[in-house]
Amino acid sequence: MIRLEDVTKIYTMGEVDVVALNGVSLEIQRGEFVSVMGPSGSGKSTLLHILGALDTPTSGRYYLEDVDIADLDDAEMSRIRNRHFGFVFQSYNLFNELNALENVMMPMVYARVPKRERIERAKALLSSVNMDHRMKHYPNQLSGGEQQRVAIARALANNPTLLLADEPTGNLSSVQGGEILDILCNLNDEGTTVVMVTHDLKVGSYARRLIALRDGQVAADQPVPERFTPLPSTILEGRSA
Ligand SMILES: Nc1ncnc2c1ncn2[C@@H]1O[C@H](COP(=O)(O)OP(=O)(O)O)[C@@H](O)[C@H]1O
Ligand SMILES: [Mg+2]
Repeated sequence: MIRLEDVTKIYTMGEVDVVALNGVSLEIQRGEFVSVMGPSGSGKSTLLHILGALDTPTSGRYYLEDVDIADLDDAEMSRIRNRHFGFVFQSYNLFNELNALENVMMPMVYARVPKRERIERAKALLSSVNMDHRMKHYPNQLSGGEQQRVAIARALANNPTLLLADEPTGNLSSVQGGEILDILCNLNDEGTTVVMVTHDLKVGSYARRLIALRDGQVAADQPVPERFTPLPSTILEGRSA
């Protein structure tokens, strides 16, 4: 589904160049559940942004279903973002002036889904993340875990091929975080491809494949040895347990 070839990302800060990604090559197949791990500053979020076409590589290639996305214009890019990718962030990023139902409906407005269908689908999605009883609540009336469940429902609005999550449990208690991880596992079991950034060895173990980054390079890329058991920290250095 996705293929990165020798991708680099360099941010220029005045006089200095910051190399965030340095020659990353990888493939992600449909149906995978990948965790991207590594220390702070290793390039995890940058990689996620590039995968979700929120940002473009400085050099290298990104093929989505064998299409080189560098060949697409802005309109085609935003259409792909809206239809193919669902994003979940650590800080939920909900619209505060919209209630839960309206938040989930929003991406479908851009996709020009008819209003009746938007409402029905948003209700079904909120129900699938156990938020039936909070559809008319505004973000500031919801707990962190509830806000994240709304954010996941919203990310699924246009039935994305790839769900991208950046530290989705980072602001949550372990109980609330566990609920979010269960939802991601269920979605993956039903066929959604999931890429999740985390620095937490327990959280990373929910995935089936681990990609460890260090200084913008892939230090390890391997199956998760024992699912739901905290990963050994040595794995992040590219050494086997
Ligand atoms: N917009 C930006 N401008 C300049 N430097 C950036 C920007 N985003 C990230 N960086 C730098 O790139 C490196 C990788 O960042 P990031 O991908 O956010 O790492 P991580 O998510 O693993 O903590 C860091 O050194 C960071 O400071
Ligand atoms: Mg980050």
